[in-house]
Amino acid sequence: MNTQNWKEIWGRRTHATEESLDLATLIKLDGFDTGAGRIEAADWQNYAGVIAQKLALKDGDSIYELGCGAGAFLFALRQLHTLKVGGLDYSTALIEAASRAMPDGYFIADEAKNVETDSQYDYVISNSVFHYFSYEYAATVIASMIKKSKVAVAIMEIPDLKTKFESETLRRDALSVEAYEKKYAGLEHTYYERDWFKQQAALHGCTCEDFDGCVPNYAQNKFRFGVLIKKT
Ligand SMILES: C[S@@+](CC[C@H](N)C(=O)[O-])C[C@H]1O[C@@H](n2cnc3c(N)ncnc32)[C@H](O)[C@@H]1O
Repeated sequence: MNTQNWKEIWGRRTHATEESLDLATLIKLDGFDTGAGRIEAADWQNYAGVIAQKLALKDGDSIYELGCGAGAFLFALRQLHTLKVGGLDYSTALIEAASRAMPDGYFIADEAKNVETDSQYDYVISNSVFHYFSYEYAATVIASMIKKSKVAVAIMEIPDLKTKFESETLRRDALSVEAYEKKYAGLEHTYYERDWFKQQAALHGCTCEDFDGCVPNYAQNKFRFGVLIKKT
């Protein structure tokens, strides 16, 4: 997989500094604005609520997101609870947006594999990012997420290997063969088996439960899953 191509694409997602950064704008900046990837703000809020419940989030908790982009997911969680937030993303432009949207948060532009693990947060999460990683990179990132978390790690929006053909057909059907190849040349996604995450969690002495996609009215939802890794 050519990870550099994805990095260039995310680096180009900029916003005007006078633009107001409400939830809908952050969702758009994070790439959920077109075709099969579109998610409406109300559905996003509903989704954030489901994940907040799975984590049993409460006021005063701290939460860190790897690949946070402009911070749409953290922003929606903060509409539900008073949270201390932090995040990392390799897109400087998106990190600037996250810092503007949540000025009290701690945001840093870097590669996910470089995240520092000395300062811990209650929860460390990643939403819709693991498809840009190789398996080797993903294994390194999971190890860091576990180290950085005090309570649990949640990874969401992971492409399910079982539904790879259907998922790619949906993306392909929206375009002509030529347009698809032009748009996605060198832009592959990584698909995972649910058991792979259980094996990674076990390597670090953690439990891992998987769950189906839970974003309402989202065309990709049925091709995605999430995992909740708990420190024991
Ligand atoms: C689909 S967006 C999701 C953003 C955010 N997590 C959300 O849910 O709104 C994917 C994000 O992953 C980031 N990303 C992809 N690969 C990365 C890597 N290796 N290190 C850091 N960030 C990465 C991109 O810059 C982009 O912001």
